Amino acid sequence: MCNKQPWTFVYAADMQPGSPRSFRYRPALMENWHSTKRQIIANKPQFWLNGGDITRDGLLHDGEFVEMKDEFDSMGIPYHTIPGNMDVGNKHTARQGFFDSRDDIALNMKSKNLARYEKFFGPAYWTFDHKNVRVTGFCDMLLGSSQPKEEKLWKFLEELKKLPPIDHHLILMHYAMFIDDIDEETFDITKEDEYMQWYFGLDKPIRMRLLKFFKAANVTRVVTGHIHCRKDFTAAGICFDLAPSATCGQWSDKWPDGDISLGFFRYDVNGREITKTFIPLENISQRTDFYGPGGHPKPEFRNYSMAWQKPAFK
Ligand SMILES: [Fe+2]
Repeated sequence: MCNKQPWTFVYAADMQPGSPRSFRYRPALMENWHSTKRQIIANKPQFWLNGGDITRDGLLHDGEFVEMKDEFDSMGIPYHTIPGNMDVGNKHTARQGFFDSRDDIALNMKSKNLARYEKFFGPAYWTFDHKNVRVTGFCDMLLGSSQPKEEKLWKFLEELKKLPPIDHHLILMHYAMFIDDIDEETFDITKEDEYMQWYFGLDKPIRMRLLKFFKAANVTRVVTGHIHCRKDFTAAGICFDLAPSATCGQWSDKWPDGDISLGFFRYDVNGREITKTFIPLENISQRTDFYGPGGHPKPEFRNYSMAWQKPAFK
């Protein structure tokens, strides 16, 4: 299963550029996405992977999905996507979190939102082989959600072990498997000093069940976005690549060796070796103009009359 000719694929995610037809917009993110797009094309990958948060508020607007699908389709490169929480909703919680500014339970991922994503970008979980690399992607926000597709996804993940052997098996999901330690406990959404850890990583029962299936399926690498801060871990014999955002960094103070530089990953496959390279964005937008709130604003703080481009989405 060893291929003689070196080849390349790319991972880019967390572009969430939004739209001037929305209740909020930062042009710098769209400019950074366009720089990313140009650089992905210049790297001539055989395909590229998107790790979610395609949109700023796809959770609310079909229009952002329409705009981003046009962007992706215009690149002329095969691509495979998974949704992020900005596209379909957050990982499930049964409890309101510490911050009153967001309604955590209302933000839970719901089937109707996932169905809207699937209408544009295809199934919520999939696997394919390209030469000697297998890539499996899935909507991890389904896990723990009690939504109808959750059990189907667990079954799909359990049965990955039945696929034929291959040199590399890469997993694409949105949330980090863990924040600091693969054995860490579930963080408490109600505590101020644990909220961000809860928000960025998976709860322990889901992580442990996933890890069992990953080991059975000979997973070699897990690539995740969502945090927008680049960092490498190795645990349980698996490489965990915490990926950069293509357009905006965050959580810069979390790890001394974390890096919020904007860009994407290039993976070069040469025989049985895979080499990962961080490709920094060459042109970072200097625009500072924007309108609307950040974070996950409640409906009363979404003012569509501010939209720069009419008609506004709502
Ligand atoms: Fe995210």
